[in-house]
Amino acid sequence: MSALARLLLSPPACRDPRALRRAVAGRTILVTGASSGIGAATARHLGQAGATVLLLARREAALDTVAGQIRAAGGQAHVYPANLADPAEVQAVAARLRADHPQLHAVISNAGRSVRRRAQDGEAKQDLSRLLAVNFSGPAALLLALLPALAAGGVVVNVSSVSARHVGAPRWSAYQGSKAGFDLWLHAAGTEWPHVRVASVYLPLVRTPMSAPTRAYRALPALSAEDAAQAVTWPLVRPVVRAAPWWLRGVELAGLLAPHALGRALGALERLESRLAAHP
Ligand SMILES: NC(=O)c1ccc[n+]([C@@H]2O[C@H](COP(=O)([O-])OP(=O)(O)OC[C@H]3O[C@@H](n4cnc5c(N)ncnc54)[C@H](OP(=O)(O)O)[C@@H]3O)[C@@H](O)[C@H]2O)c1
Repeated sequence: MSALARLLLSPPACRDPRALRRAVAGRTILVTGASSGIGAATARHLGQAGATVLLLARREAALDTVAGQIRAAGGQAHVYPANLADPAEVQAVAARLRADHPQLHAVISNAGRSVRRRAQDGEAKQDLSRLLAVNFSGPAALLLALLPALAAGGVVVNVSSVSARHVGAPRWSAYQGSKAGFDLWLHAAGTEWPHVRVASVYLPLVRTPMSAPTRAYRALPALSAEDAAQAVTWPLVRPVVRAAPWWLRGVELAGLLAPHALGRALGALERLESRLAAHP
């Protein structure tokens, strides 16, 4: 992607490795969803900048690979396999993290899952509970259990999506609902945590294993996982609360001024795409 396209698409990002090093060297930072995509790239950036990185996700072998890359580049990493959709596993991994690292300086809440399906389709009821578990209740329970480790002051960065802020889109109800719900919960709960700074980064489309199955997205401009990692680390170097691409305000404004027209336009696009997919 060209520098201009990146500038147009991306939220503000930390592209200066020295600034990131000044902010995170010697700090202990948990990255959830570190086995793949944006989380793995963020963990590598943080490790290279001198942070001790704690890597959480379900797939231990994939976490070991990322930890190995960080160590090979001279950094420090520790692996914490856990399923955020399982409340007992969340409590167990939080207890291990607190015991091993009594002080955390930052948590990058990045683990997530997406499903693109119409709300009324057969699997949709399960979609909603699965996505709420991975995108909302699991990360929320993990943060609550880790608050004692953040008591000396810390930052929580929520890796969110532009779709959590703009108008509803067809086939994304479970994803948008769970991402928007967690974001609102986090900023509300954060008002009760005087020592913790809460920030959200609203990413546009990023090329990762999550977005790969959606054929319609292959032709669209997208950030790389490395670009996204630079945006995710921005709240660690600047005291921002919300970081989003500049154009998101325009989309939100259109949603406020002409919600029905925007909803109809998104619906028409979705129907066109379904017709094209049916007759490629
Ligand atoms: N890709 C995009 O276009 C895009 C755009 C905006 C925002 N985002 C957000 O960015 C974040 C990262 O997504 P990505 O694109 O990097 O996707 P990805 O490559 O599929 O990575 C998702 C990560 O979440 C972990 N995860 C999933 N379910 C989990 C569970 N039950 N317990 C623990 N960890 C779990 C996965 O690890 P395991 O499978 O090993 O558990 C993996 O490390 C997500 O929150 C997503 O909503 C993505």
